[in-house]
Amino acid sequence: MCYAIPAKVIDIKGRFAIVDYFGEKRKVVRDLLSFSVGDYVYVQAGMAIRKIPKNQAEELLRIWKGLFVKLKEQDEKIVNADYANKGLSTSFNNILDKLNSHKRLDRQDYLELLSLQGSSDMEAFFNTANKLRNINLSNSCCIHGIIELSNFCKNNCLYCGIRRDNEKIKRYRMSMEEIDKAVDYAVNKRGFKVLVLQSGEDDFYTKEKIIEIIRLVRKKYQVLIFISLGERDAGDYQAFYAAGARGALLRFETSNPKIYSRMRPGKKLEDRVNLIKALRKIGYLVATGFLLGLPKESDKDILNNILLTKRLKPEMYSFGPLITHPDTPLANLRKLTLEKILKVVALARFIDRKSRLLVTTALETIDEDAKEKALLSGANSLMINATPDKYRKLYDIYPSRAGCNVTIEEQIARNLKLLYRLGRAPTDLGA
Ligand code: 5AD
Ligand code: SF4
Repeated sequence: MCYAIPAKVIDIKGRFAIVDYFGEKRKVVRDLLSFSVGDYVYVQAGMAIRKIPKNQAEELLRIWKGLFVKLKEQDEKIVNADYANKGLSTSFNNILDKLNSHKRLDRQDYLELLSLQGSSDMEAFFNTANKLRNINLSNSCCIHGIIELSNFCKNNCLYCGIRRDNEKIKRYRMSMEEIDKAVDYAVNKRGFKVLVLQSGEDDFYTKEKIIEIIRLVRKKYQVLIFISLGERDAGDYQAFYAAGARGALLRFETSNPKIYSRMRPGKKLEDRVNLIKALRKIGYLVATGFLLGLPKESDKDILNNILLTKRLKPEMYSFGPLITHPDTPLANLRKLTLEKILKVVALARFIDRKSRLLVTTALETIDEDAKEKALLSGANSLMINATPDKYRKLYDIYPSRAGCNVTIEEQIARNLKLLYRLGRAPTDLGA
């Protein structure tokens, strides 16, 4: 199984190398790996992560070449299909005119887009976002694996099923051997090139333990490691980077400081945002974003969430709907509609044309077709849960998580089928 296309190194310039994919050139960082001109490497998120033996690379390229062209054609076909674009409201038409004449959209336009109601308007909005994705990022679609190391958490976020006060949940922690085995399976049997190591805020995993995990995974498996371990000292994050982690996933949850402190008792938004900024300074590729549908959230808050994400210059947007958990204080909260969520996806693509935009598991969970619809509304990244079967269900931040009852193999098969149908290449090419 392959989620990345081998790239041929054609030049080396200081910290960077120039690689070639079917004639397209890319500049990549080379600090995780040593290699020479003429070698083939896997590149993820702009970093060379692993060498590939020449004969294997050439075979993969041969297989990819035909598929690559076909997928691009399929994506173009979908993007350029003749949509009716009839019956659009005047206000939406005005926004489209601005967009087509390269004028800047303003806050009022964005709020207008969030509150669109007519089905023709919405369809045209989603299709336009998909077009912007195609123009700016082509048809690449990252597939990251996520392994959930522990469901212990010392925090008590009101929305989260693994919050400290939830006594109904069975807690688990993966041992070093279990982590090694899970990564081995994900990388060597299932071909993942990027793994997110996630956990609740669990002090059992001390700084030293995390360093040990990162070193082991990087040395033995040569994947790009994202960590998602919550709030830790910037100094700890610095040490994790030195150990070989290169990505950090940390959402700020909401840009509204009042909602933030209400939802996360004892916590301040400012501290969270400062930490995310510190992560970028350290050099991490940052994935960040927010929860949608928190109590008392307005459209202005949602817009501010997108704008704050953009200011944090993320590698990837990660936002999704809040799904109520029966054993939390928010058990009876009203749900957002799928349409509203798709409007946020499309708006995020309008506002940030160049970033990866993840279809989060929560979004997949709310509706069977949500993933496909999000991919057709501007999104271009996926996450597959690679937590061992026996623990996956216990990472119960919300109920009935997508992928919980399906093997990793089956999740991969379903995702690839969908991507091929939509003309998306499961690689990080094009970003
Ligand atoms: N629904 C959806 N997402 C949730 N998260 C926590 N609880 C829920 C829920 N009930 C998200 C938070 C956190 C991430 C790890 O999971 O945004 O950052
Ligand atoms: Fe812990 Fe994160 Fe859940 Fe909050 S959202 S309780 S920090 S796992």
